[in-house]
Amino acid sequence: MEYEKMSHFPTDFLWGASSAAYQIEGAYREDGKGLSVWDKFVRIPGKTFKGTNGDVAVDHYHRFEEDVALMKEQGLKAYRFSIAWTRIFPEGKGQVNQKGIDFYNRLIDELIANQIEPVVTLYHWDLPQALQDEYGGWESREIVTDFTNYAKTCFDAFGDRVNYWVSLNEQNVFISHGYQMESHPPAVNDEKRMYAANHIANLANASAIKTFHDGHYQGGIGPSFAYSPGYAVNGDPKNQVAATNYEDYAAHFWMDVYVYGRYPKMIYKWLTERGTAPVITEADQALLIAGKPDFMGLNYYQTQTIAANPLVGGVGLAAENNTGKKGTSSESGVPGMFKTTNNEFLKQTDWDWNIDPEGLRIALRRIDSRYDLPVLITENGLGAYDKLEEDHQIHDDYRIYFINEHIKAIKEAISDGVKVIGYTTWSFTDLLSWSNGYQKRYGFVYVDRDEESAKELKRYKKDSFYWYQKVIQENGRYL
Ligand code: BG6
Repeated sequence: MEYEKMSHFPTDFLWGASSAAYQIEGAYREDGKGLSVWDKFVRIPGKTFKGTNGDVAVDHYHRFEEDVALMKEQGLKAYRFSIAWTRIFPEGKGQVNQKGIDFYNRLIDELIANQIEPVVTLYHWDLPQALQDEYGGWESREIVTDFTNYAKTCFDAFGDRVNYWVSLNEQNVFISHGYQMESHPPAVNDEKRMYAANHIANLANASAIKTFHDGHYQGGIGPSFAYSPGYAVNGDPKNQVAATNYEDYAAHFWMDVYVYGRYPKMIYKWLTERGTAPVITEADQALLIAGKPDFMGLNYYQTQTIAANPLVGGVGLAAENNTGKKGTSSESGVPGMFKTTNNEFLKQTDWDWNIDPEGLRIALRRIDSRYDLPVLITENGLGAYDKLEEDHQIHDDYRIYFINEHIKAIKEAISDGVKVIGYTTWSFTDLLSWSNGYQKRYGFVYVDRDEESAKELKRYKKDSFYWYQKVIQENGRYL
């Protein structure tokens, strides 16, 4: 579309940035906080890059006022953060920890005093360890009650000031990494357990959303889904079938459940034949249908290019590049279904993620036409090495280019008719990347710490900070 003919961003568009509790807060044992599965997992040798953990992270717990002042200076309209379940319920259930409520009240009030809309994620992977120990966390249906109770506690405590709630962050990621790739807790590799746990997470998600709607709280709620749209590598019908398989397997398998309360037929049949399909009761079905989100949260980083993959001798699941050594990842797939392959039109980051702004427009269009829901882009950004110069400047022109191109793609999608509520980039400050340590940076604000030392955790504004400030001032008009 010609630039002049494109629609403008709505005046209430939520220009923002994001974070997650474990990746920024630190203070992991303060003010009554209980331990999460990540507090334990990071202590297993070899599980994270150079053994990094979030004990201190970027110390946002003690520096949130400084961080919110930086958000205000940048002109953010929205800030997405997550609540640590273990601050509210140290044991996952039972007695509320008032100091946890107090912390998030202070943060939310500070944001609102600075005209920044809080976007609150209820679950960004830091499950209370107590629930993992007691009943296996996501593997027990007991978690549906406990998660719903935790969610309701948050709605009651903060719901008078919060208009946007995210239920589960990237269920597809925490389930597959936790129960197949062994790279997140509880680090098991068992397909049947994985799909059972995933189904229970769907129920918990639907139950929290239903509770929100039944309680008539203000605003809306939806899950954040990590969607990497798939393209067939070429016009060969075999590759087109593989790409269709990929979309059902990697995307519709979650989003169809969120919106329509049903699994894609082809995948459910495939799982049934393998003996790994989850048990679905009639009551489950009713709950899934009753828990329809108000918007789809979209975490978009990249696309995948897909080719056919033979059943015998086909490519299986590959490990991720967690070192930042470019070119160290390989094709990954499900034999008989699909595999990912190289796309000659796309460049990659140092962690081998495909850089594809146009893919964001495609993601938005596909979500819009299949689900007909507004979309809140809850994550998008570039993980890169940044250099702190002697004069404390950070010249991250590559990040400016990356985000600029993605904003153009959003503008195209809005012109196409997609309702996009906002865009909270990943991330506001630099933070701990779960498996990649501190060297993979995403923020507009540089935090001076590394794997070896927390140093003084000083904050420095990157070039992208000032650039995004201008984009917000101009409401994305000149890109
Ligand atoms: C998303 C998560 O998967 O992507 C974030 O919601 C995460 O928590 C982000 O940090 C980037 O991934 P990574 O592995 O580069 O940190």
